[in-house]
Amino acid sequence: MTKLSVNINKVATLRNARGGNVPDVLKVALDCERFGADGITVHPRPDERHIRRQDVYDLRPLLHTEFNIEGYPSPEFIDLVLKVKPHQVTLVPDSPTQLTSNAGWDTKKNLAFLSEVLEEFKKAGIRTSVFVSTDVEMIEYAAKAGTDRVELYTEPYASGYVKDPEAAVAPFVTAAKAVRSLGLGLNAGHDLSLVNLNYFYKNIPWLDEVSIGHALICDALYLGLERTIREYKNCLCQ
Ligand code: PXP
Repeated sequence: MTKLSVNINKVATLRNARGGNVPDVLKVALDCERFGADGITVHPRPDERHIRRQDVYDLRPLLHTEFNIEGYPSPEFIDLVLKVKPHQVTLVPDSPTQLTSNAGWDTKKNLAFLSEVLEEFKKAGIRTSVFVSTDVEMIEYAAKAGTDRVELYTEPYASGYVKDPEAAVAPFVTAAKAVRSLGLGLNAGHDLSLVNLNYFYKNIPWLDEVSIGHALICDALYLGLERTIREYKNCLCQ
């Protein structure tokens, strides 16, 4: 089964726009679970412009499904993750002010750094994932660094899907096969949507997890959260 982890950053962005607690990020996370999400993802950034450190602490004891914290492994981020002990940590190479993740790691160049950080998380019993492109060499170096899983950066798939779905998914199938042959788990995320998710899943049914935020929260404006989550889950079936 491919798990759907709902990224709730956008909900926090909306809350922060007015300074109060509407919408209530914790309640939304619990409702996502109630409506069928298999996990919750947050991406606390140094400027706390969406998810705040306190949200991460508050969510941990409340969630019943898998908690995934993604971010750049700065000393502050590492400290937060080790304190909160989520089920999974996903390392992304974002700079502090970046709008959104827009590339995978250069795992070859960062091999020593990633190996050290991954070791620390593994010692704490936290499953690790490293955000990568479809470049097989980058996937091989992620494996060398000791990660449990990789997360494929799917923006190029999403943008290519509109014109030519088959061509868009081809490098992802090749990469996913490499991931499988290295014995790593496989996640995917970025710009996945109700339009492109099912085709991705059908081509790579051994996916462990997709992490989806922006499109899902936008769809919820029209469909409501419950129906939206149901529809995304339906995309993860043959
Ligand atoms: N995976 C990673 C590593 C991300 O940084 C993000 C965006 O925060 C996502 C998945 C989800 O992307 P989207 O919001 O486009 O669904």
